[in-house]
Amino acid sequence: MDTKVKEAPIDTSRLTRPAAGCSGDDGEGCGKRALPATAKAADRVYRTLRINILRYNPQDSASVPHVQQFQLEEADGMTLFMALNEIRETLDPSLQFDFVCRAGICGSCAMLINGKPALACRTLTKNLAAEFSLAPLPFFELIGDLSVNTGKWMRAMSERIESWVHLKSHEVDLTRIEERMDPELAEKIYELDRCVECGCCVSACGTARMRPDFVGAVALGKIARFKLDPRDARTDADFYELIGDDDGVFGCMSLLACHDVCPKNLPLATQIAYMRRLLVKQGFVGG
Ligand code: SF4
Ligand code: SF4
Ligand code: FES
Repeated sequence: MDTKVKEAPIDTSRLTRPAAGCSGDDGEGCGKRALPATAKAADRVYRTLRINILRYNPQDSASVPHVQQFQLEEADGMTLFMALNEIRETLDPSLQFDFVCRAGICGSCAMLINGKPALACRTLTKNLAAEFSLAPLPFFELIGDLSVNTGKWMRAMSERIESWVHLKSHEVDLTRIEERMDPELAEKIYELDRCVECGCCVSACGTARMRPDFVGAVALGKIARFKLDPRDARTDADFYELIGDDDGVFGCMSLLACHDVCPKNLPLATQIAYMRRLLVKQGFVGG
């Protein structure tokens, strides 16, 4: 195990005030570094973080998987996004990881944090021990270090389950007015539409590890969303065709790791149970 240790002081002149609506102290990072609110806070002694990162570049034939430790000084409101940026800017520009929104919206920063899938931009370092480990999400194609290609898998999954509204009429009518929807139903659909395709649920899933063609909780949640949508013309028989087998809802072992790790708190347990009951009935009665 390579334990190369480097130290880098934090440049406090680059600290900024938290964005409006972000206290920087709410258990979830906002991507901006916060200034100490009081003189007392300014006197606070910050920890030296020891971050063990699994390094490997599959594009480089000379690269071998190893753990590298980086040390840096913790700052107020520091998220893992900020810590990794600090490492890349001051210690090792070759470190690979993904970020886009820094606000839990794009889903690109998911990684294993102490072995558990989570979003790095929504993880405050103060909620971790001074020494912790980071590794890429398992299951997905590794790009390098902490970067994985979730997009490729998500696209294939979306095409496989046809994750779009199948309108009742194939003819485009530009004069048609928008369909009304009961606000309560719209809210239920919106609840499931909040999925950011981060891949945490699939990485945590034992079935996905054993069965590479398993659609994953993300797909089961999407099917449940289209089942709810009155504009979607698909029948229960159509959904049975898509996920009524062991690579679909009947392969799920119901251990619910997906539900536990979903950073958007989607009700995956309820939706998977609902789809299973619906498709068991469909399997018996047919039609
Ligand atoms: S269901 Fe949750 S964990 Fe799974 S991809 Fe969507 S947001 Fe991520
Ligand atoms: S409950 Fe099903 S989909 Fe969720 S992690 Fe377990 S096997 Fe995977
Ligand atoms: S950077 Fe977009 S979810 Fe973390």
